[in-house]
Amino acid sequence: MSMLPPTPGASPGPIARLRSLRSVAVRTPDAAAAAEFYQHIWGLNPVEADTGVTWLRGTSPEHHILEVRRADANALGKIAFSVATPREVDEAAFRLRAHGVPLVAEPGPLDQAGGGYGLRFTDPENRLIELSADVEAVVVRDPNGLEAVPRKLAHVVLNTVDIDAACDFYTRVLGMRISDWSEHQMAFLRCNSDHHVIAFNQADWTSVNHMAYEMPSIDHFMRGIGRLRHHGVTPLWGPGRHGPGNNTFGYFGDPAGLVCEYTSEVEQVDEDAWLCRVWRRVPELSDLWGTAGPPSTDVRTRMAGTPDAGGWWEK
Ligand SMILES: [Fe+2]
Repeated sequence: MSMLPPTPGASPGPIARLRSLRSVAVRTPDAAAAAEFYQHIWGLNPVEADTGVTWLRGTSPEHHILEVRRADANALGKIAFSVATPREVDEAAFRLRAHGVPLVAEPGPLDQAGGGYGLRFTDPENRLIELSADVEAVVVRDPNGLEAVPRKLAHVVLNTVDIDAACDFYTRVLGMRISDWSEHQMAFLRCNSDHHVIAFNQADWTSVNHMAYEMPSIDHFMRGIGRLRHHGVTPLWGPGRHGPGNNTFGYFGDPAGLVCEYTSEVEQVDEDAWLCRVWRRVPELSDLWGTAGPPSTDVRTRMAGTPDAGGWWEK
């Protein structure tokens, strides 16, 4: 995609056309236990490892969908999105400056697992965002096979202290679209046909609410939940099916204290026909099947996470 430079005085427009949510990085004191869990129980595969850090993939060609890194406290490492070409990365840098958003890392080759060409900046709550192109792909691993393992990272839900400011930045600067609201409590944002890849939840502090991994079918989803049960890991909430996004959900706690979700059948959006809705927050819409019941205090507490001021990259 080629974009014209912004007209002086006009809004610079979105910085790029985000193609997909690539990966999320988490930082935690219990990185070894978390990596072990995601590999041996959750169903991801390590693609690279170094001292205190593991990169894990799903069955899709994405080089990695999760990075788990040892750190002093639980925190978001970064969220990575793909763009089509290195040229778009360069254009995004130009447009970020026009938006007054400072770069944490200028466009250039990424010195990390999977390589690629990218840049980094922060959002209004100091979350680190990476845009990249030309990241190494990996050979697809039988994505619709018998094994009940995740295909890709489906979405990341972020607790925000200002949901309107968050939505403004992610739509106006990142070019994402709001698919649905859950009253004025949650907003679901897309960058492609998936109903949402990011959702914001209005909260008392900035943190990660949960990360969701997509199973290729509802059967894989249920068998994945079954495998976890055999490992003595039972859902904190679910299985059920959400109203907004119409996706199935089963939420679990990982050893790092973060909440992870299996999901499937995420609603696909026709960009030309979609109308954003506002869902009421009632039990029959939070869980269309009526199987999950309301979320417990325990899962709500875990989803609230711990306050995350970001800034680890400055130390
Ligand atoms: Fe979710």
